[in-house]
Amino acid sequence: MLRRATGEDSRFLLELRNDPDVVATTSTQRVVAPEEHCAWFESAVSRPDVLILIVEHPEAEGPVGYVRFQNGGSGMAEISIALVSGWRGRSLGTSVISLGCLCAMNEWSDLEQVLAFVRSDNMASVRAFDRAGFALDQDPGMSREGHVVLSYSRPRPGDQ
Ligand SMILES: CC(C)(COP(=O)(O)OP(=O)(O)OC[C@H]1O[C@@H](n2cnc3c(N)ncnc32)[C@H](O)[C@@H]1OP(=O)(O)O)[C@@H](O)C(=O)NCCC(=O)NCCS
Repeated sequence: MLRRATGEDSRFLLELRNDPDVVATTSTQRVVAPEEHCAWFESAVSRPDVLILIVEHPEAEGPVGYVRFQNGGSGMAEISIALVSGWRGRSLGTSVISLGCLCAMNEWSDLEQVLAFVRSDNMASVRAFDRAGFALDQDPGMSREGHVVLSYSRPRPGDQ
């Protein structure tokens, strides 16, 4: 269901990133120009601190979303996710977040915590992260205006 992004996914990622509903959920709330996207993506697919995973579904012909992790060091990474419109609201986001976090923890053995910065009005996203096991993070050092911060910690042996 999740696979690593390749150069061939560039166009899909740009289209989804610029979907008006997705733009509205981003921190900048602006559309990304194709040149800017291509420059970013070309470096991002090969960078060791970025993991971009493409969501596929057996009932869909093409990709249905992405989940991306940016490893900021100190055992922490930031997650972002988007599904194409027809695949939202079916609980897929919750599964993708859970599976994506497992992949990221597998990719970076020193990764301890995944952070999600979600716009406060994006209740679907807050719910999806909550259902995937994220908890509200009250650390004032992590706050970002207009956003809630949710965090997920690497499970320990014996955790339920
Ligand atoms: C956010 C996103 C990944 C969530 O995935 P999803 O598969 O749509 O979410 P789910 O179907 O798992 O729904 C999660 C919960 O939100 C609820 N929900 C869905 N749409 C909602 C809405 N518009 N308002 C409030 N709650 C909503 C669902 O009922 C569900 O709640 P439940 O746990 O009580 O049943 C997906 O909606 C998406 O790609 N949105 C656009 C991009 C985006 O917002 N990205 C996140 C940026 S931080």
